[in-house]
Amino acid sequence: MSLLIQEVSGIDAPMELLLLADPSEDKIRSYLSGSTCFVASSGAVVVGACVVQSRGTDTYELMSIAVHPDHQKSGYGTALLQWVIDFFRNVGARQLEVGTGTFGYQLAFYQRHGFRVTSIDYDFFVNNYPEPIFEDGIQLFDMLRLTLRYSSNGA
Ligand SMILES: CC(C)(COP(=O)(O)OP(=O)(O)OC[C@H]1O[C@@H](n2cnc3c(N)ncnc32)[C@H](O)[C@@H]1OP(=O)(O)O)[C@@H](O)C(=O)NCCC(=O)NCCS
Repeated sequence: MSLLIQEVSGIDAPMELLLLADPSEDKIRSYLSGSTCFVASSGAVVVGACVVQSRGTDTYELMSIAVHPDHQKSGYGTALLQWVIDFFRNVGARQLEVGTGTFGYQLAFYQRHGFRVTSIDYDFFVNNYPEPIFEDGIQLFDMLRLTLRYSSNGA
């Protein structure tokens, strides 16, 4: 598997992919302008994307990460997440944060890369989205916030 990861402008962000991770196009557009979008391609095919926003001097937040359903479970998500972790370590980040409403396989996906649970934003999805959001038949209420703290020894 050879994956090419490149930064693209907000205008070129693959909205159909980003909608897999966040059902609100309005919300995605609202944070895209102040963020950096990376796309991952295998050959000529865009298979994944993620959006990262700066939160002060040395903290970044992974706003969204998604892999096209036809290409999930092929290792692309892991490769993209690892690439993003390394990229922000190299720019001197102290920590990378992410919020998730799904406590299923996505939680293991982040934890495997060293993310630790730091807080819970109760009723985040009720208070911030106009419609209830369901995933696998379960309504999302709370956002679990996870943080990867970069250590000086390269972790
Ligand atoms: C989360 C996501 C980016 C992972 O990308 P991916 O390319 O599928 O990830 P990988 O192939 O590297 O697999 C990572 C792990 O997730 C598991 N996984 C991926 N998709 C899964 C699914 N639909 N159901 C169960 N497990 C899944 C893989 O089995 C793997 O676990 P393993 O290492 O124990 O085998 C991708 O599944 C996705 O786009 N999901 C929808 C959007 C989303 O939920 N984004 C995150 C918002 S918090």
